[in-house]
Amino acid sequence: MSLSTAAPSLAELTTLRVGGPADAYVEATTEAELIDTIRAADDAGEPLLVVGGGSNLLVADEGFGGVVVRDARTGFERESQDACGGASVTAVGGQDWDDLVVAAVENGWVGIESLSGIPGTVGAAPVQNIGAYGQEVAGALSTVRTWDRLRGRVRTFAVGELALGYRTSVLKESMRGAPTADDPRAPWFPTPRYVVLAVTFQFRLGTLSAPVGYGELARRLGVEVGERAPQGDLRAAVLELRAGKGMLADGRFGAAPGADRDRFSAGSFFTNPVVPADQAHLLPAEAPRYPVRTAMPMTSTGPSLGVVDPTLVKTSAAWLIDHAGFAKGFGLAGAASRATLSTKHTLALTNRGGASADDVVALARVIRDGVQDAYGITLEPEPVLVGVSL
Ligand code: EPU
Repeated sequence: MSLSTAAPSLAELTTLRVGGPADAYVEATTEAELIDTIRAADDAGEPLLVVGGGSNLLVADEGFGGVVVRDARTGFERESQDACGGASVTAVGGQDWDDLVVAAVENGWVGIESLSGIPGTVGAAPVQNIGAYGQEVAGALSTVRTWDRLRGRVRTFAVGELALGYRTSVLKESMRGAPTADDPRAPWFPTPRYVVLAVTFQFRLGTLSAPVGYGELARRLGVEVGERAPQGDLRAAVLELRAGKGMLADGRFGAAPGADRDRFSAGSFFTNPVVPADQAHLLPAEAPRYPVRTAMPMTSTGPSLGVVDPTLVKTSAAWLIDHAGFAKGFGLAGAASRATLSTKHTLALTNRGGASADDVVALARVIRDGVQDAYGITLEPEPVLVGVSL
């Protein structure tokens, strides 16, 4: 464990590259160090911010008045593999997500190939149930080992206990819930009650991908939605699509994101609005409508596309933003212009260089209010906002 006195700024620890200093900073290199640090902060009543890849965080310019701990562990292990049961693989929370996807594609572990190129760590993946191109991590999870900050002990969740939904889980929900008799310290913010220590995946074996669940990706691969493609081809196609949208992981934590300012972002800044199907007529007529699928269950033939929930419809936040008058590259005047929409995708707010958290927040407010005025839909931010709010 390294406890540095000169704590880094959150700008150095996040992909948006904004945020002031931390009071204290710890890099945990073992599970015991991670738990000890969390326990010490909690016992002392110190605010705690556990960071992984820093790709889903927007922290205030004042910084964080508490302990920031980065899970600096890496590694994953195949625990079993056979033709019937598939492969069971456990990765530590700090493991770079995309390096695990690379290994999965190389080893013929099917179920996360569409999640290629997503920034961040394994530990963050189940918290917000990362998803892209028709796949969610929910479909490949087996168990999640966590540190329960309330009870002060390890708790392992089976996938069915995680209440995984669109960009949410019980882990994420613990950050918003009101106090109850069972959990008087709720809500836990900005770090969930349960801190992910390790994740066990259950993969089917094969050279072909899971069924392709996204039209844009299927077209690029020359297959129909629901058909499979060679895993390597699918990964390559996803990386191309993500690169075109400026939403590519740029390697490990701390790696310079190169000259492309469109990559100084927290990915999608807003979630796609989900509305009850019986109110879908209130959406603008031309706006995209996507089916909402329940968490994708493993079947005997591997991860399926999941069952469409007929009671819900998802629309596109990017489309709403674009059509409310905020084109790619949109920015405010003056100093706040240091933050703009990505020039490649309207859903990413980007730091063009020297942007403050306030610049990003000012832009986010204008976008949210503009969409609200135009369409009556309130966009919800996807990243965790620490010390700032819209
Ligand atoms: N669109 C625009 N203008 C733009 C970009 C997109 O109008 O500048 C419209 C288009 O009509 C397009 C639609 O938005 O068809 C949807 O865009 P896209 O396919 O890029 O996907 P998205 O819904 O904006 C979601 C996820 C992404 C994920 C992609 C691909 C959320 C909040 N975002 O974006 O995930 O990579 O689908 O599956 O669910 C993230 O969560 O951080 C993230 C990047």
